[in-house]
Amino acid sequence: MNGELTGKIRIAVLVSGSGTNLQALIDAQNSEIIKSGIIDCVISSKRDVYALERAENAGIDTFTVAKNECADQNIFEKKIDEILTRRCIGLIVLAGFLSVLSSTFTSKYANRIINVHPSLIPSFCGDGFYGLRVHEAALARGVKLTGATVHYVNEITDGGKIIMQKSVRVYDNDTPEKLQKRVMKQAEWKILPLASEKVCKLLLFRKE
Ligand code: GRF
Repeated sequence: MNGELTGKIRIAVLVSGSGTNLQALIDAQNSEIIKSGIIDCVISSKRDVYALERAENAGIDTFTVAKNECADQNIFEKKIDEILTRRCIGLIVLAGFLSVLSSTFTSKYANRIINVHPSLIPSFCGDGFYGLRVHEAALARGVKLTGATVHYVNEITDGGKIIMQKSVRVYDNDTPEKLQKRVMKQAEWKILPLASEKVCKLLLFRKE
């Protein structure tokens, strides 16, 4: 499970939706911001999402493991794990992946799973904080700065060690939708590729 067959860490990007963060990763690979890793495949937990089209347009292999077609979490994760093993994946990047992974899974891939969250952790994170809810909560609290965080994934939702953060201004007339767009554009799409490169580099030079 070292994913170093090509001299680069093989990356699997896990998605569930529109895949704008996936697009940022693809663009970063093309512009060599990501150079210590290579996006090997994209795995979606939902059928027919736009992220899959983005991957196909970029010539990246795709897999769908539809969560709602799996009898339980264990089967869902087993199917994903089979793909990861077969493709010698060294780094798993959660990019808008809407499933919480079990501790069995996260401990198997300790320090090899990263996630992007649309707030400055430890604010507005943990169970129930996803999508627009995060930005609604930030506006309700009246914070003047929010942002995004890339962190390692462990058994605690949004609780793993922080790798990178970027702050974003909140304006008086913001709506959750406006704020979400600004956080994505100014923070998520920038730090997810940078953090992915950083972790790939660390993994490449790590002695196993
Ligand atoms: C992003 O806001 C990300 O932080 C969160 O889910 C959203 C996914 O968007 N985890 P996309 O699928 O990358 O466009």
